[in-house]
Amino acid sequence: MEHRVFLITGASSGIGEATARLAVEEGHRVVLAGRRRELLERLAAELGGPERALPVTCDVTEWDQVRAAVAHTLEAYGRLDVALANAGVATPTSFLDEKGTPEDWRTMVLTNVYGPAITARATLPALRETNGHFVVTGSVAGRIPTPGSVYSATKWAVTGLAQNLRGELAGTGVRVTLIQPGLTDTGLIGPGRADHAKLDPADVARTVLFAVNQPPGVDINEIVVRPAGQVWHR
Ligand SMILES: NC(=O)c1ccc[n+]([C@@H]2O[C@H](COP(=O)([O-])OP(=O)(O)OC[C@H]3O[C@@H](n4cnc5c(N)ncnc54)[C@H](OP(=O)(O)O)[C@@H]3O)[C@@H](O)[C@H]2O)c1
Repeated sequence: MEHRVFLITGASSGIGEATARLAVEEGHRVVLAGRRRELLERLAAELGGPERALPVTCDVTEWDQVRAAVAHTLEAYGRLDVALANAGVATPTSFLDEKGTPEDWRTMVLTNVYGPAITARATLPALRETNGHFVVTGSVAGRIPTPGSVYSATKWAVTGLAQNLRGELAGTGVRVTLIQPGLTDTGLIGPGRADHAKLDPADVARTVLFAVNQPPGVDINEIVVRPAGQVWHR
């Protein structure tokens, strides 16, 4: 398998970090995008330094920064094969009570929906050059109703985004995969779910690599991956 260049948003922790680790383990190069520069630099150094991994400060809600991250990738490694639009945030919400503020809702919509949308726009010219792969982290929360949850609504939007993107890209050679993890043991989940069965971020990373390691003629559209024992409606 040839070695490819991955751009991963939300690479400073959790699923993005685990995917970066696995991609490098498989011989690929990674560009690590996120806002917490120190974590990105530490991870890049651990993964082998500039030959293998490059930290890029990037807020996915800012078009100029996302575009700059892609430009940085091309400057450093000359190509882009896989974009993983993974950055996301979650805060508890209710439409009825004071749980979470409308400002939290704005942040979730911008990060979880606008973020992957502009990541697609920014990466597609380079992905078309390589017959590359756009992967986006949705959620089980993007396929089931979750009363009161704006987070879930953003992930439903991600489900639609992946399908609409695949529709427009038909015939271009670019594949689109939606990863929908269930509960995963990262900083994103609230203390209320401490006792629930969880995936390890590395479990989700393996599903990403499974999708991108398929032959060019195979487009894994969606992967739902839950911890064993997670009930269907959570
Ligand atoms: N954990 C779960 O149970 C679960 C289940 C299903 C889906 N997911 C999804 O998985 C994805 C990754 O989350 P995680 O669980 O791995 O949690 P995490 O460890 O909190 O990771 C979230 C990542 O998103 C980045 N991020 C947040 N806002 C950003 C912004 N404006 N610009 C750039 N990066 C930003 C964070 O980096 P910085 O703070 O450094 O910017 C961090 O690296 C998210 O899309 C999440 O919705 C998680």
